[in-house]
Amino acid sequence: MVEHETFDGVLIVGAGLAGLSAALAAAPRKALVLSAAPLLQGCSSAWAQGGMAAALSADDAPDLHAADTVAAGAGLVDPAVAELLTREGPAAVRRLAEYGAPFDRDAEGRFAQSLEAAHSRPRVARVKGDQAGRAIMEAVCAKALAEPHIEVRPEARVRALLTDAEGRVRGVLAEVGGRLIQITASATVLATGGLGGLYAVTTNPVAVRGEGLALAALAGAQIADPEFVQFHPTAIAIHADPAPLATEALRGEGAVLVDAEGRPFMAAYHPMADLAPRDVVARAIHRQIAEDKGAFLDARQAIGAHFPDEFPAVFAACMGGGIDPREQPIPVAPAVHYHMGGVVTDTAGRTSLEGLYAAGECASTGVHGANRLASNSLLEAAVFGTRAGQAAREVAGPRTSPLAARPAPDLPPMALRRLREAMSRDAGVVRDAEGLGGLIGLIDDLESRHGAALPLVTARLVAEQALARQESRGAHFRADFPNAAAEPRRTFLTLASGSAAG
Ligand code: SIN
Repeated sequence: MVEHETFDGVLIVGAGLAGLSAALAAAPRKALVLSAAPLLQGCSSAWAQGGMAAALSADDAPDLHAADTVAAGAGLVDPAVAELLTREGPAAVRRLAEYGAPFDRDAEGRFAQSLEAAHSRPRVARVKGDQAGRAIMEAVCAKALAEPHIEVRPEARVRALLTDAEGRVRGVLAEVGGRLIQITASATVLATGGLGGLYAVTTNPVAVRGEGLALAALAGAQIADPEFVQFHPTAIAIHADPAPLATEALRGEGAVLVDAEGRPFMAAYHPMADLAPRDVVARAIHRQIAEDKGAFLDARQAIGAHFPDEFPAVFAACMGGGIDPREQPIPVAPAVHYHMGGVVTDTAGRTSLEGLYAAGECASTGVHGANRLASNSLLEAAVFGTRAGQAAREVAGPRTSPLAARPAPDLPPMALRRLREAMSRDAGVVRDAEGLGGLIGLIDDLESRHGAALPLVTARLVAEQALARQESRGAHFRADFPNAAAEPRRTFLTLASGSAAG
């Protein structure tokens, strides 16, 4: 039996930084946040290590940050969106500091900032070395829980979006503690994060499986660039699922990538060596491993005895895997980390469907292009989450016209395991037509047995558009098309229309 609930306010799916920023910004309207896991658990935001990029220092400027964002994105960043994100960045960091996020400061009280790959300045505001995500989320969760206009409902899994006869989104069909409930709301904001859990090796919580993207696509929303999946170069290779991260800030502090013989190798791949763009470093490490040469992050000289104080989360993860990074190089391998593709939005989070908004990793504003710049993701979540909440609060309602929705089927664990293995093998750091064709065949097979489960919908979008993009650009590398096409183009599509380039 399906229950019905009407909510006069903004319904938000996801309780990471984007979702809670939207909820805070929805005031004075009410905000109802649906979260699959208890607060602080299960969202990628809390796992971010490096921090939040923003031009906060005297020798930096939003224009420089925007230029780095555009350069990293390999021809596909929308410069106007990069300009907006970087201009609003410093205020976003200060707002989080006001909520209580304990950013590291120098002796004069200025934000301490780390250098990360492809940034022209040290501009990553950090917390206790590598604890930024957790500390920011603790502050934001405390702020959200103290706000009377916000209600958080945990253990709520959204199974479909509710649409009316005109295709407008009117709310969600959710499973809450075993009950199926149609929740009708004035506006619905998707803030469900990325898709790491679709891959066998990820730095994201494994339950994050591109479900928001699939929900939006099934409702008819426009999707962009699903083939662009970012692999973090230095996940700690200790066979853990999910894989713990060794933040890029380690390389910013001078740690060096070396092979099994202890020889630095990045200078052979790129003039910026260890601080080359993330996609370049990920491919170099992938190759080192494929050629059996090994890949390790050697922090002994650059950080050494300071490791436990300066990078406590990485230190704990290494020690848990039997590696003492003060004494030994850390074994590393690329792992899925971030999805540049997503639900198409404008800079106020509006999607192509009336009533539906999206923000954070599940959205695609065009700000990341083919390769996101390091530490722009928490920034994106804070800036565009806030903007989406501000826009969504203006929607009157809720309207209660007849609504259609069928719950998406579940994917059994064995099928999910096969999918994750195939995604890592065939839609990974290096792709080709043969592997992608095989992957699409597997998705067809799983779909014929289990129906259009949400992970399969998103996996298909990634695989089909990776096959269609016959070039290499940013994080998308095709062994059979190793060069970039002359004309950069983004992918825009809806499930009804198939692919259309723009
Ligand atoms: C890192 O700390 O290396 C990750 C930062 C990011 O993904 O932006």
